[in-house]
Amino acid sequence: MSQKSVSTKESSRAPISQRRLDVKRAPSGGLIGGEVAITIDGREVKVPMGSTILDAAKQLGIRIPTLCNHEDLCVAGVCRVCVVEVEGQRTLQAACAYPVLSPMNVKTHSRTVRQARRHVIDLLLSNHCGECYTCARNNNCELQALAKEYGVDSFRFGHIEAPRYPIDTSSHSVIRDMNKCVLCRRCVRTCIDLQEVGVLEVAGRGAKSKVETFLDKPLGKVVCINCGQCINRCPTGALRANDPTDEGTRR
Ligand code: SF4
Ligand code: SF4
Ligand code: FES
Repeated sequence: MSQKSVSTKESSRAPISQRRLDVKRAPSGGLIGGEVAITIDGREVKVPMGSTILDAAKQLGIRIPTLCNHEDLCVAGVCRVCVVEVEGQRTLQAACAYPVLSPMNVKTHSRTVRQARRHVIDLLLSNHCGECYTCARNNNCELQALAKEYGVDSFRFGHIEAPRYPIDTSSHSVIRDMNKCVLCRRCVRTCIDLQEVGVLEVAGRGAKSKVETFLDKPLGKVVCINCGQCINRCPTGALRANDPTDEGTRR
C-alpha cells in the first residue's frame, strides 16, 4: 500500500502529545482508515475510524456535556461528566475518550446516564469550596452551568464550608484558588502542551490530589511566564486574572 494508514501532521509545531492523529481513508474502502457506522440515540452516522463518541455525537448535533474536555487540548478523560451507555459494555464509558472502532449503539441521555452524570456533578460540588455570588466566574462557570442543567438544588454529599488551601496571589497575572478546583487538568495540559512551560501538575492521590507547582511554591516563585492561558481554559473560578484595577481606583 503506497499510502500510510495513520500519519501525524508533520508541519505542526505542537508537541507530540498535542498532535491529532490524521487517519487517512483506505483506498480499498477497507475498515482500517475507513468509516464506521455508529448509532447514537437511534440515529446513525458514519465517522472516520478512531473518532470519539463525542465527535460522532457532534456530527449529529447531539450535545453531550463535558468538563475536562477542551477543543484545544489532548484528551484527558478524567471528569466522567460525559459518560454514555455503549451497548455491550458493562459500565458507562467516557464519550470524549472512547474511540469508535466498530459499529456500536450508544445512548447519551438515558435515565442511567443522567443519574450517573448527576452523581458525578454532586461529587464535584461536595469538594468545591466557594460561594457562586462572590465568585469572579459567576454566570460564566461550566460547573455552575452543569449543576443548573442537572437540577442540583442541594449538596447531596455535603459541602466544604471552610477553605482548605490559601489563595495564591503571588503571581502578576494569575490568582489561584485551589478550593474551587475540580481537577480537570485543563490548566496542566495548557501549560505543558500549548505553552511548553509545564509549571503545573497534579500532586497527591485520591482525596489529597491537588494541582501544584514544583514543591508547591507560589506561582510567582516558579518559571511561569504570566501568559494567562491557563485562566482561559479553567472551567471554574479556581484560576482568575490578577486585575488590580479596583485597587487603583480606591486611591
Ligand atoms: S500563566 Fe502560562 S506559564 Fe503560567 S501557569 Fe498559566 S499557562 Fe503556565
Ligand atoms: S485549576 Fe481550573 S483548569 Fe486547573 S485543574 Fe483546577 S479546575 Fe481544572
Ligand atoms: S469530558 Fe469526558 S471525561 Fe471529562
